[in-house]
Amino acid sequence: MEDNTKIKSGIVMGDFHINSTVAVIKPGIQVGEFICHPNYTQRWLWECLMDARQKIVELPGKKILFLNGDAGEVDERQRSYQVMTNNPAVIQTLIYETLEPILDVVDEVYVIRGTEAHTGKSGWIEEAFANDLVHVVRCEDRSVSEDVTEEQEEFGARILKRLKKKSAKEINEKPPEEKKITYASWHQVRIGVAGVKMDICHHTSMGKLPWTAPNVANKLAVLSIFDYTEHMKAEIPNLVFRSHNHMWADSYDNYDVVRAVCMAAWTTATEYVYRIGMENRLADIGFAYTICENGDYDLKKVKYPHKDSRRVWRLTA
Ligand SMILES: [Fe+2]
Ligand SMILES: [Fe+2]
Repeated sequence: MEDNTKIKSGIVMGDFHINSTVAVIKPGIQVGEFICHPNYTQRWLWECLMDARQKIVELPGKKILFLNGDAGEVDERQRSYQVMTNNPAVIQTLIYETLEPILDVVDEVYVIRGTEAHTGKSGWIEEAFANDLVHVVRCEDRSVSEDVTEEQEEFGARILKRLKKKSAKEINEKPPEEKKITYASWHQVRIGVAGVKMDICHHTSMGKLPWTAPNVANKLAVLSIFDYTEHMKAEIPNLVFRSHNHMWADSYDNYDVVRAVCMAAWTTATEYVYRIGMENRLADIGFAYTICENGDYDLKKVKYPHKDSRRVWRLTA
C-alpha cells in the first residue's frame, strides 16, 4: 500500500516537437552531419527549459515527470519543410539530448504518446525514445495480466491450444510473469500521486475563438465527472491534464471535485498556424507541477511570456 503522507511532486510537460525548426533544441547539438546553431526562438525556448529545470530541481519529494505527447517531430505525413532532419535515428537522439537536463533531475518518467502526424504511428518515436530511459515507468497490457477469471483463462487456453497445439494444462502452468506484455510509452496515465488522482492524456479538442477556447477545461472537467461515475463506475480524478493545443486552459475551482488543465507547449508557430488563420495567436510556453501530499495538491503553472512581445510593429516605411 502506497504511503500517501509522503510528499511527491508531479511535473507535466508536453508538445516539445523536437526537430522542428521553431521548437526547443539543445544548442550546439549534432544533427546528423552538421552542428545546430539554433535560431533566436530556439535559443529563447532553451533558456526557458533551463529555467524549468531549476524549478524542478527545487521541488520537494519524489519527482515524477509526465511527458505528455509530441516529444518529437517526425513529420509522418511529410507536409513540412520546417524540420531539421528526416533521419529517425537522429531525431531520437535530438529528443533524448534536449530533454536530458530534465530527465536527469527526476526520479520517474512516464512517456505519453502524442499525435500520429508528429510522432509516428503508435507513437513509435516516443516508444523508441522511452525504451532507452532507465527510469521510465512501463505500461503493462492489462488484457493479459494474471487478474483473469477462470472462465477467461480456460477460453484463452483453448485458443492457444488450437494455435500452438499445446495442452491447456501446459499453458496454465506458465508462470504469470511470462504472460506480461509491456510498452515503454502510454496512451493515457491514470495515477495516484500521494493520494491525488491524476488522469493524463495528450489529445483534446479546443475551440478556435478566444471566448470558446478556455471552455475546453470546463468541458473536460464535466466529461470526467460523467465518464468516471456513469460510464466507468469509478472514482473521479482530482486533476485532469490534456495537451495538443499548445495553449493554457484551466477550470480552476469551477467544479468542486475535479480540475482540468490544458497545457502549454515548447514550440512556437509553424507554417500550419498561418494556414488555419491563427496568425495573430501565440502558442503558450511553459509547464505545470503539482506538489502532492495526503490527497491534497498545490498546482502551479509556470508561464514563459514571449520575449519582447515579438516586436509587433517593427517595420516602418
Ligand atoms: Fe503538439
Ligand atoms: Fe498533438
